[in-house]
Amino acid sequence: VVSPKCLSDIDDAKVELEAYIEFKIPDINPRYRLHYHVTPPVGWMNDPNGFSYHDGEFHLFYQYYPYDSVWGPMHWGHVSSPDLVHWNQLPTALLPENEQCFSGSAVSMDDTMALMYTAHEVTDKEPYYNESQYLAFSDDGIDFYKYEGNPVLPAAPNGSPDFRDPKVWKYGNEWYVVLGSKTVDQRGRVLLYKSKDLKDWEFLSVLGESQGDMGYMWECPDFFELDGKFVLLMSPQGMIAEGDRYKNTFQNGYIIGSFDYETNEFHPEVDFQEIDFGHDFYAAQTTEHNGKRYVIAWFSMWEVPHVEDVDGWSGAMTIVRELKLVDDRIIMKPLDEMIDLRHHTIMHGRLRSHEVMSLPQATELIIDGNIKQKIELYLQGVDGGGKVWVRWNPAVGKVVVDRGAGDVRQVEWSPIGSTTWRIFLDASSLELFCGEGEVVFSSRVYPLGGWKLTNLSSQSLKIEAYHLKRTVP
Ligand code: FRU
Repeated sequence: VVSPKCLSDIDDAKVELEAYIEFKIPDINPRYRLHYHVTPPVGWMNDPNGFSYHDGEFHLFYQYYPYDSVWGPMHWGHVSSPDLVHWNQLPTALLPENEQCFSGSAVSMDDTMALMYTAHEVTDKEPYYNESQYLAFSDDGIDFYKYEGNPVLPAAPNGSPDFRDPKVWKYGNEWYVVLGSKTVDQRGRVLLYKSKDLKDWEFLSVLGESQGDMGYMWECPDFFELDGKFVLLMSPQGMIAEGDRYKNTFQNGYIIGSFDYETNEFHPEVDFQEIDFGHDFYAAQTTEHNGKRYVIAWFSMWEVPHVEDVDGWSGAMTIVRELKLVDDRIIMKPLDEMIDLRHHTIMHGRLRSHEVMSLPQATELIIDGNIKQKIELYLQGVDGGGKVWVRWNPAVGKVVVDRGAGDVRQVEWSPIGSTTWRIFLDASSLELFCGEGEVVFSSRVYPLGGWKLTNLSSQSLKIEAYHLKRTVP
């Protein structure tokens, strides 16, 4: 039971934290600050949390440590949006107390917004931590209070200390949740529960489980229906790289199958596939509104250099994408609303072979080339810094995103329709959507002084380039 004294202590801590954030914002070095991607106002960000629609607006929370640009005791940062492209900063929603506030999700229940998240507690016995599930509520979508009956799900059925990242949804009159966990012999798995009130949960089934080749832990699961199939999306840790596949520290991908709410069994029909082929995409979470399924992910990765951290911040979100299922795979499309971000046209014409053009930090490019021939784009900073090559070789049939020094991601591309590339550049990022979104790469790149594009192909390329507006604080 939380005493009134504690309550006012929490309120004081919230006020102090917001004052601290305001005080620190002027110290941020703006050189890599993104113009239309959500970033932490100061400090560290990882996973998207609580991606949801409530009372006329979209909400997005995120794993947040305000006091340094490295990971630390987890808070939940909070932004909202009318349209998933313009974002407003809101006060930090959850502060750690005895528990750190690890990843989770949000649902709208009439006038109340409910968060379900993992309480990560440090203990003095091996493995030195414990994870259980907590609730928090809000009546105004801004101020959140933790439920006095926490935890609502104290432990995994097999006692594993890794039991986290609840993703809740409603089906009929009941709430369902998937949770990431592992078997006793270290195989990643996803658990399914149901509840009438979010407070009392009944274990239903092991929704999915590695047979040994899919890592030791499955983080951040999500489960939803898409175009007549069910999709289990998750972030496996510990998959071994195989050729071009699984080259990031941890992976993010999905299994398509069928599911029955009577038996609670999920039958996989297609093997695990990565959802994005770039260097920096993790812990994706979806939400549904008006029949559309949207996804957003942490635009970064564990255990890689976070170049911006010396500037007082670290981590970002990808742009939101809409998901569709086409021929046994997910395609990701930028939202139609992204067109509203174009504030003027920089170019609409041809870039000759070896011609160079400079571009603002926030630019959208539409590239149309003859894909029967090689295409090569070179993007670098006007004043140095990071660089990236984007290549297509029809003889190999792969798209390549190369950050230099062997830091390459590549994947087969057979266009299902359009053969154009749509590239979203921001001050420290590149998102490449090939064709209809059947192959997407999200990678952080750190150019200085805006972008310089060189057409290294021997063919001239048709290019549309738009300067994009700022849509984040
Ligand atoms: C995934 C993750 C989650 C956890 C959170 C902690 O990136 O490890 O499993 O809840 O980050 O910040």
